[in-house]
Amino acid sequence: MPLRRITAKLLKTRASVSFFRTRPLVTQVSDKESERHSTKQTHFGYQTVDEEEKWKKVHEVFETVAEKYDLMNDAMSFGIHRLWKDIFMARLAPTHGTKLLDMAGGTGDITFRYINYLKNLNPPPEDKKSSVTVCDINQAMLDVGKVRAEKQGYTWDRCGVSVEWVCGDAEQLQLPDDTFTAYTIAFGIRNCTHVDRVLEEAYRVLAPGGRFMCLEFSHIPNDALQWVYDQYSFQVIPVLGQLIAGQWRPYQYLVESIRQFPNQEKFKSMIEDAGFRQVTYENLTFGTCAIHSGFKI
Ligand SMILES: C[S@@+](CC[C@H](N)C(=O)[O-])C[C@H]1O[C@@H](n2cnc3c(N)ncnc32)[C@H](O)[C@@H]1O
Repeated sequence: MPLRRITAKLLKTRASVSFFRTRPLVTQVSDKESERHSTKQTHFGYQTVDEEEKWKKVHEVFETVAEKYDLMNDAMSFGIHRLWKDIFMARLAPTHGTKLLDMAGGTGDITFRYINYLKNLNPPPEDKKSSVTVCDINQAMLDVGKVRAEKQGYTWDRCGVSVEWVCGDAEQLQLPDDTFTAYTIAFGIRNCTHVDRVLEEAYRVLAPGGRFMCLEFSHIPNDALQWVYDQYSFQVIPVLGQLIAGQWRPYQYLVESIRQFPNQEKFKSMIEDAGFRQVTYENLTFGTCAIHSGFKI
């Protein structure tokens, strides 16, 4: 059956998919936290929504996809996201004694790479204990991550790295100033309502000399390639979402949110505006995504 007909068929049935069902509202978010969200307008993919609504919708997206998140990542990217994440960790090149904050850490992909990277170094000296705090706004994603960590041996007693799982908002962290030596955020910042607040918080919690690193979908600086990529993104990814995860809308949001995110240069300026120095970026796979890096000096 041609792709267009499959798409049309799925569209007809999508009213019944669970994204549109009335769900119990975000459980782990306190009233106090939601109060701070104003009624200013922002983007949720291509929709214009109140900031508070976006926050709830993003939360709902990841709550909905948590169980199938890893499978879908492989399907959508043909496994390439694994290579991007490997490169990201190779660029960070952590050493023993690193205190990492893996923001929007979700189901743990970056954290597990960090631990593997450290395991492949020489054994750590006694006084160089490494740690990672995996922080995410969504408990459902963290729960999947914790189960994976248990199964795969990424726990303190089995890997020698202290691993803490924390539910929190990247825009308003309940973490002290000047604490971490590295901050990573992979495919997370695009989902945040106020990217500038995320960057300010990253700057605040990093210790002087600490490094900020972001892996995020970006923009392909070639119109022909961008067109091909757009066809794939808009025609295929939501269909895969429906077929594999039984969810259309979260994957439609995914592709729209990628187009809304600032391009490489603009995002670089935003990181500089937050106070970071020596800000650079590197394109991966023609600019499909980019690694941005900066230092708190
Ligand atoms: C696409 S997943 C990325 C997960 C993981 N870093 C990876 O690369 O596989 C995006 C994550 O960002 C989280 N997120 C969205 N908004 C957030 C916020 N304001 N603060 C913290 N995490 C947030 C979501 O809950 C989700 O787990």
